[in-house]
Amino acid sequence: MTSYHPIKLTPLTPHMGAEVSGANLAELTADQTAEIRSAFLDWQVLVFRDQILTRDEHKAFARLFGELHVHPSKTHLGARGDREIFSIHTRPDSSYTNGEAWHTDVSCEALPPLASALYLRQPPGEAGGDTLFANMYLAFDSLSQPVKKLIGSLTAVHDGRKDLAAYNVTLKPGQTYPSARHPVVVTHPETGKRLLFVNRSFTDHIEGMSRKESDALLEMLWRHGENNPRFQCRVRWTPNTLTLWDNRCTWHHAVWDYYPNERHAERVSVCSSVAPTA
Ligand code: SIN
Repeated sequence: MTSYHPIKLTPLTPHMGAEVSGANLAELTADQTAEIRSAFLDWQVLVFRDQILTRDEHKAFARLFGELHVHPSKTHLGARGDREIFSIHTRPDSSYTNGEAWHTDVSCEALPPLASALYLRQPPGEAGGDTLFANMYLAFDSLSQPVKKLIGSLTAVHDGRKDLAAYNVTLKPGQTYPSARHPVVVTHPETGKRLLFVNRSFTDHIEGMSRKESDALLEMLWRHGENNPRFQCRVRWTPNTLTLWDNRCTWHHAVWDYYPNERHAERVSVCSSVAPTA
């Protein structure tokens, strides 16, 4: 790991997630920006506290990593609102909260976003509404050699309809939703490290296997990541916190434990120009 100056990093765990201090995201210097880019690759999840940001400043920060992504709910389903902001609002009468299953954002697209930056001005109540993250490099590394060999040449289909169904959304006649094929094991385009690239929300099946075989193998891989706290970190939100994650090598899970409190978060994601590659 690199040591950082002028920014300061306080790790959340020894292997993933760090809180960053010494940077105002609305007024970053070139040195700070370069260090944040490097820390992003080293730690996968970066937490910036006490950031007072307008929507434009939130977007401008995300734009340091690339063009902004438009969520398929807007491009395919006609959802309204700012095209670059994905709003996550959970009320006492909500029937679900977005992201309450382990996932990589929008892996149903051919080019899933490379990063997401989630901003909360006010967390719900005195506690709760944390976000969990899991490190897919470690998930892959810790599999046995026979399993690594088995999955190393496989391809999986990630289908947005599977995710929509979890929210009881069905497509209207004439509507489609993204679906894409990705290798089960991919190589991160910047770090060159191998990682596990399937997730419970979007991955529907593995090609070339019967449904029973595919379901059993995927369930094993999902549980491997979900049930291993040593691959994970937990972000506790405080007022005006922004969390940035590398969507290419992590899963995340929104914890809905704050009923009857309300939680509002806004996410901006960054387009990738590279498809996940074995
Ligand atoms: C998400 O980006 O999937 C939601 C994360 C959260 O609201 O904590």
